[in-house]
Amino acid sequence: MTQRQLLVTAALPYANGHIHIGHLVEYIQADIWVRFQKLRGHRVLFVCADDTHGTAIMLRARRENRSEEDVIAEMREAHLRDFTQFQIEFDNYGSTHSPENRELCKTIWQSLVDAGLVREKEVSQLFDPVAQTFLADRFVRGTCPKCQAANQPGDNCSKCGSTYSPADLIDPTSTLSDAAPEMRTATHLFIQLEQLHEFLNEWTQSGKCLQPEVARYLKGHFLSNELRDWDISRPNPYFGFDIPDSPGNSWYVWFDAPIGYMASTEQWCTTHGGQLDDWWKNDRAEIHHFIGKDITYFHTLFWPGMLKTAGFNLPHRIHIHGFLTVGGEKMSKSQGTFVMASTYLNHLPAQVLRYYYAAKVGSGLDDIDLNPGELVARVNSDLIGNIVNLASRAAKFVQGGKLAEVYPDDGGLFAHAAERADRLAELFETRRYSEAMREIMQLGDRANKYVEDCAPWILRKDPGRADELRDVCTVALNLFRQLVVYLSPVLPELAQQTNRLLNVPIRHWDDSQVPLTGTAVSRFQHLMKRIEEKQVSAMIEESKETFAEEQANTSVPAYHPADTWKDSGDALVNEPMSSECTIDDFVKVDLRVARIIEAGHVEGADKLLHLTLSLGGGKTRSVFAGIKAAYDPESLVGRLVICVANLKPRKMKFGLSEGMVCASGTGGKEVFLLSPDDGSVPGQRVH
Ligand code: MSP
Ligand code: ZN
Repeated sequence: MTQRQLLVTAALPYANGHIHIGHLVEYIQADIWVRFQKLRGHRVLFVCADDTHGTAIMLRARRENRSEEDVIAEMREAHLRDFTQFQIEFDNYGSTHSPENRELCKTIWQSLVDAGLVREKEVSQLFDPVAQTFLADRFVRGTCPKCQAANQPGDNCSKCGSTYSPADLIDPTSTLSDAAPEMRTATHLFIQLEQLHEFLNEWTQSGKCLQPEVARYLKGHFLSNELRDWDISRPNPYFGFDIPDSPGNSWYVWFDAPIGYMASTEQWCTTHGGQLDDWWKNDRAEIHHFIGKDITYFHTLFWPGMLKTAGFNLPHRIHIHGFLTVGGEKMSKSQGTFVMASTYLNHLPAQVLRYYYAAKVGSGLDDIDLNPGELVARVNSDLIGNIVNLASRAAKFVQGGKLAEVYPDDGGLFAHAAERADRLAELFETRRYSEAMREIMQLGDRANKYVEDCAPWILRKDPGRADELRDVCTVALNLFRQLVVYLSPVLPELAQQTNRLLNVPIRHWDDSQVPLTGTAVSRFQHLMKRIEEKQVSAMIEESKETFAEEQANTSVPAYHPADTWKDSGDALVNEPMSSECTIDDFVKVDLRVARIIEAGHVEGADKLLHLTLSLGGGKTRSVFAGIKAAYDPESLVGRLVICVANLKPRKMKFGLSEGMVCASGTGGKEVFLLSPDDGSVPGQRVH
C-alpha cells in the first residue's frame, strides 16, 4: 500500500463559547478518521485552532473590562482541556490571532488583489451610536414591516416569516445598547466571486470532492445564478486584522478563519521541521476538511476560490456532517440538552460518547440524534456485553501465564474477522462509521458464541483439561484483540488497556491479521463500567442548573454604554467617595474660571509653582500650587483653569496663597489641571 500524505482539519471553534456535545459530533468523528489513517500507516497531520476574531469577542472583552487577548487565552485553555479529555488529539492547535495567520492573510489577500478580484463599494448599515459599532443583523430588533409584530429579529419575522433587511424594521433598536441605530455609510471591500464561477462550477460538480447532495445544493442555490460579491471587510471598531492599504478596515472573520488552517500547519512546521508548501502546494498531499453543514457555503465556494487564486492546493475532500439533536429536538439550554463537554464528563466517560457517535455517524448530512435511552442500551450491550465481555470471560483464566504457543483451531473465526479488514477500512475511509460498528459487533457476537460454547469456566474445574482451557482463552483473547484493533480509532483508551493486558502494543491496522501466540498475559484489570440512565439524567439536570445560573447572572443587560470605554475602577477604589453634601454646602465654594498670567519656580520649594491668576477686570490672585513635577511654568501662561476663588488666604513659608487651582490625579507627575471648554472667560462662576 502506498503511503498517503493527509492534512486533516476540523472546523475552528469560536473562541467566544465552550465546547459542547454538538461540537463533539465533529471533533470526535474527525479524530476517529485521523486515528484510523495513522493506524493504516499514512502520514497524517491533524490541525485545528481557535477562531478568535469578530464582534462577539470584542463585545465580550468590553463587557468584562479586559482585553480580547485575555478572553482568547482563557478560552483556549478551556478548549484544549475539553479536547484532551475526549482524547481528541490535534498535532497542532493554533489561533487565528497569530502572527502566522496575519502573514498568510496578507499573502492571500495580495493574490486576490493582483488577480483583480477585489473592488470597493459603499455599504449602508445600521450603526449603534452608543456602542459605537456597526450592527450585524442579529444585533437589531424591531417591529415587522409586514405584519407589525413587535420585537422581531433583524433579518426575518418569527410571526409571519417574511424576510427583510434590518433597516426595514419599524422602530429598530440595537440589542447592544437599546439605542436607536442610525444608518451610516462606509466603504467595504468585496471579492467578485462571479469571476471564479466557471472554476467553482467545475470543482464543485466534479463528483470527487463533495458529497452528491452538497454538489446539488450548491448548483441549485448558488451556481445556477450569478455569484454575488462577497463583503470581506468590516469598518473598525472590529476585532480582527487591519487590511493593508485600507485604513480603518479589518478583514471579516470568515476571511481569516479558514486561512487559520494554514497558519496552524505552519506552526506545526516551525516546531517539527517542515515546509508549509509540503502540505499546501504539493500534488501528493491531500487536504481533508471536516465541517458541519451550517458552514458549507464558506468552505465550498469562498475557500476554494481563495486557494485557487493564491495557487495553493484545493481540498481533496470536504466531509460534511449534520447537526446533533437530543431526543429528536434541537439542543436546548432550558431543557438541559445543551450539554457542555465539561458537564458531560462530570457524569459519563468520554469513550461512551465516542462510541455512541461512531455508532450513529454515516456519510450523509442527516442530523444525528442522541437518544438517552438508546445511548445507555447501546453502550451497555455493545461495549460491555459484547466486546469487553470477551476479555473478561477469558483473561482471568490465563492471567499471569502465557497464550498458547500455536494458535489453536478456532473454526475459522479469526480468519473470517481478518478478512473483514478491507471492508471495515473502506467504511472508515468513507465515514460510514455506523456500518463499521455494526459489523464489528456482529464479529463480536460470533466470538462470544464461541466462548459460550467452549465454556472456559467449566474447563477450569478439570485440571486434566488445562491445555484445552489455555487454547480457548488464547482464541477468545485474540478475537478480542482483533476487534480492539478495529475499534482503536474510536476507543483509544480501550486499546491502551488491551496493550497492557496482552503486552504487545497495537501499532497497525494489520495487527488484526496475525494472532498473538506465546506472549504473556498480565493481571486482568477492569476495562469498562456499565452505565446507567440516572447518569444521563444527572447530566441533563446539571446542564439545566448551569443555564439557570447563567440566566440569573445575565439579568444585567448585555451591554452598558460604560463598557465602550473600559474605564478602570482604580481611581474610585484608591480614593473612595466622600459622604453626601447638600447643594448649600456646594455653593459655599466659589469656583471661578481664571487665566494663568504668570507662572514661575519658587526658590527652595521642590514641588510648588507660583501662579498669578487673573479673574478679569484687573483682579488677580497669587497662588502656590503643587504641580511642579507635572507642568513647565512657561507652558501654563495664558491657559484657563478653574480656581477656588473664596478660599481663606493662607500664609505659607514662601508667601500668601490666595486660592487653589483645581486638578485631579494622585500627585507628582500624575496631576491634571481642569480647564473649561472654549468660550468661557475669566471670572465666570462654575455652577
Ligand atoms: N468558527 C466557525 C468555523 C470556522 S472554520 C474556518 C464555526 N465555529 S463553531 O464553533 O460554531 O462550530 C465549529 C464546528 O462545530 C462547525 O463545523 C459546526 O458545524 C460544528 N457544530 C457546532 N454545533 C453543532 C451541533 N449542534 N451539531 C453538530 N455540529 C455542530 O462555525
Ligand atoms: Zn411579520
